[in-house]
Amino acid sequence: MRTQVGIIGAGPAGLLLSRLLALQGIDSVVLENRSRSYVEARIRAGILEQHSVDTLTEVGLGHRLHREGLEHHGIYLQYPGTRHKLDFPDLCGRTVWVYGQTEVVKDLIAAQLDGGPPLLFDVSDVTPEDVDTDSPRIRFTDADGNPQLLECDVIAGTDGFHGPSRAVVHEAGGGKVWERTYPYAWLGILADVAPSTDELIYAWHPEGFALHSMRSPTVSRLYLQVDPSEKIEDWSDDRIWDDLATRFALDGWELQTGPVTEKSILPMRSFVSSPMRRGRLFLAGDAAHIVPPTGAKGLNLAVADVTLLATALVRLLKEGRSDLVDGYSDRALARVWRCTHFSWWMTSMLHTSGDEFDAELQLSQLRRVCSSEAAARELAENYTGLPID
Ligand code: PHB
Repeated sequence: MRTQVGIIGAGPAGLLLSRLLALQGIDSVVLENRSRSYVEARIRAGILEQHSVDTLTEVGLGHRLHREGLEHHGIYLQYPGTRHKLDFPDLCGRTVWVYGQTEVVKDLIAAQLDGGPPLLFDVSDVTPEDVDTDSPRIRFTDADGNPQLLECDVIAGTDGFHGPSRAVVHEAGGGKVWERTYPYAWLGILADVAPSTDELIYAWHPEGFALHSMRSPTVSRLYLQVDPSEKIEDWSDDRIWDDLATRFALDGWELQTGPVTEKSILPMRSFVSSPMRRGRLFLAGDAAHIVPPTGAKGLNLAVADVTLLATALVRLLKEGRSDLVDGYSDRALARVWRCTHFSWWMTSMLHTSGDEFDAELQLSQLRRVCSSEAAARELAENYTGLPID
């Protein structure tokens, strides 16, 4: 088998890259070690920045997003006694959209299987090879158990945090990794109940952070800060709803409850791996970086990475010019660090540790964001997404 760009991983990064390249006449093959049903059922984040919406729309994937997605004009920041709306169009002229990553992936897969480049599910033993040459290859075993070799001009490692690509970049030496593990986790639920709010609520509370998000007019997504050692079995639906009601409590407002259809505990970490390239192997998305979910940046960063990478690969493969691929890692990492800072800042401002000094600093910062237009604008610009330069 031969293709121009071998793409490892059919998450949003790999699938969108394949589509961006196809629209420029560059062929690719996408390899995925999970099944289609597994990939389409994974529940992930739900907020798209303006530039992500624009990119998906430009590649012809905006129909269901615009029909079923919910455009949001701000968020509420809450601390005891106060729920303050930050109005994004007023502050920075942009909005965000609620549309689950699961739905983005379904749309990308449907488009890919409808006449797009090959997409192979259930492959195993995926190994990028010869990445320091101009003819790298991917060795893998196909769904029927047959060994295969995919010869490429370039390999894209969009295989997530646990994929094989990042290790290959680091084998060359000279790479660096930064990591921060936070002393809290999120317990997330999906519930069949209309959201009790028009905009997302990010709530600081002495007992811990809570977030009220949503997936549709009839499905709510809610999160509670919990200790990372908590076991999901110890959290009955009633206990979850009680804690949510306590943390979101506000005079004259009530949290509506309903059947919980999914619940899980998510760890929180920041992780950055540099460089995002070795020879003809390029990393994008979670393969190179993880942000804690508080700023809703993970999916949007993946979209930004592959937007830069697609432009750089088109220049390399169509014009034979390597200037943009040579600049890819530094350009992508500049945005990664901005989003890493923003996600860390939101996380640090909103999650309680039990330390009373920290709590007063957090409340002071929250009052500042809720009273200073400059401070609010800084949050709004980062939340809605800085332009891809
Ligand atoms: C979500 O809806 O899953 C979500 C929304 C906002 C966040 C994180 C997660 O900051």
